[in-house]
Amino acid sequence: MNKYLANFVEHNFPAPGAALDLGCGKGVDVAALKQLGWSAFGVDLPEVDLNLSYKADQLFDFVYSNFVFQFIKNKEEFVLACFNNLRQGGKLLIQTFDKSDQVLGAKGFSAEELQVYFQEKFKNIKVEKFTEFDPGHQHDHVKLVLTADRV
Ligand SMILES: C[S@@+](CC[C@H](N)C(=O)[O-])C[C@H]1O[C@@H](n2cnc3c(N)ncnc32)[C@H](O)[C@@H]1O
Repeated sequence: MNKYLANFVEHNFPAPGAALDLGCGKGVDVAALKQLGWSAFGVDLPEVDLNLSYKADQLFDFVYSNFVFQFIKNKEEFVLACFNNLRQGGKLLIQTFDKSDQVLGAKGFSAEELQVYFQEKFKNIKVEKFTEFDPGHQHDHVKLVLTADRV
């Protein structure tokens, strides 16, 4: 399980709830959350294109998205998917790449740029930068993790 996701869940939720993974890939983090007792659900291409409007048939306590935001062309629609699928007071976690990172096929952000996308719909926004060795690609990645509460 992604360690920033694991740490966030452990420190922000007294008990498991309902979580939505936007751009879940093979569903590794969804499966890990289920193991922790969460009701977790993930969406990805081709069934769901997050450049378009997306609303599940329930609200979630937690919406997260790991290393997807840099690929999204329609950022406004993605932010709306985060907002519209969270219950009031629900929590958001977004991980993406810093602009100093050499992301394959996409472009990273400064912490300020990332925050601006979310500031209208979210409060208590924090963005942290970290560098991590990526064993898959055999080099360091410079990443950003944004956390926030739905207004
Ligand atoms: C780097 S992978 C990350 C997968 C997973 N979140 C993880 O951390 O292992 C990026 C994912 O974003 C998905 N993705 C990219 N553009 C998308 C879009 N427009 N709508 C939905 N998913 C998208 C890809 O299909 C891929 O699964």
